[in-house]
Amino acid sequence: MIVVTGATGTVGSKVVVGLRERGREVRALVRAGSVGPAEWDTAVERVAADFADPASLDTALDGADTVYLLVAVHPEMAEHEKNVIDAAVRTGRRPRIVLHAAAGIEYRPESVRFVGAHVTGLAHLEASGLPWTVLGPNGFYQNFLGTAPTVKAGRLAVPGGAGAVSYVDARDVAAAAVEVLATEGHEGAVYTLTGPAALTHGEVAAQLAAAAGHPVAYTALAPEAALDGMLGTGWDPWRAEGMVELYGLYAAGRASAVSSDVEKLTGRPPRSFAEFATEHADAFRA
Ligand SMILES: NC(=O)c1ccc[n+]([C@@H]2O[C@H](COP(=O)([O-])OP(=O)(O)OC[C@H]3O[C@@H](n4cnc5c(N)ncnc54)[C@H](OP(=O)(O)O)[C@@H]3O)[C@@H](O)[C@H]2O)c1
Repeated sequence: MIVVTGATGTVGSKVVVGLRERGREVRALVRAGSVGPAEWDTAVERVAADFADPASLDTALDGADTVYLLVAVHPEMAEHEKNVIDAAVRTGRRPRIVLHAAAGIEYRPESVRFVGAHVTGLAHLEASGLPWTVLGPNGFYQNFLGTAPTVKAGRLAVPGGAGAVSYVDARDVAAAAVEVLATEGHEGAVYTLTGPAALTHGEVAAQLAAAAGHPVAYTALAPEAALDGMLGTGWDPWRAEGMVELYGLYAAGRASAVSSDVEKLTGRPPRSFAEFATEHADAFRA
């Protein structure tokens, strides 16, 4: 039985659906009071648990053979990964852990707090003695849906400098995860999940403009201005500072490597950003 954590989120919800399509027995870890998305079939077992509550994790992982470990971006995210790993050890069944981390984890870029948390989680996983596989996706195309209000007004304003990023569609990340979870032979592998090309934010803006049918100009924000903007719209400071760190990595061109791992795992090329932008044109159109 495969336990999926982060199961109601962008990637996890699609992982649950993909595993059910492969006929796998799935238990979805949801938070108390959540029943999960309507797209899940009735055979998906739902169990209420919280990453901060080890006893609830013991219940959620009881009987697991494989665990998809995806935690949300949160100041305690490293602790949350440790809690799930420790609960997996306590099952006594040595379940295989598929850790959903972030691209570049193998280079240990601890200057970005989100990636640093996954580095800590992976170190704990390595020390646990459990069999593991790491998925390292780059930034998701879906993040640009959050910029839709300004894109509608003709502007993409992020602190991405001139660096290119091999963004990836979250649906391709989920498809790659399903393949790893449903098949054997991935122990010790670190898969880097990217789209088919690295795009500068100027190129991203041009593709959003083509899809939306109106001009979209890229403004490379200074990190301080970006931080002020996020704080001014009510972002949690820990998360806003982390986003500025991440864009610093992007601006330096350190997230531009293109990997073939999505195609190797799923058997088909990853979606292009242009496809994503066209599919979501209504969200970006003025
Ligand atoms: N976004 C990117 O571009 C990107 C790129 C690379 C890697 N990543 C990594 O991807 C992960 C985020 O994936 P995502 O975007 O699919 O996540 P997401 O959509 O934010 O969903 C987070 C999931 O975690 C659950 N959750 C949150 N707090 C919880 C808690 N205390 N106990 C139990 N469950 C909890 C949420 O449940 P509720 O529905 O109840 O809130 C939800 O199912 C992060 O680890 C991030 O570092 C993201």
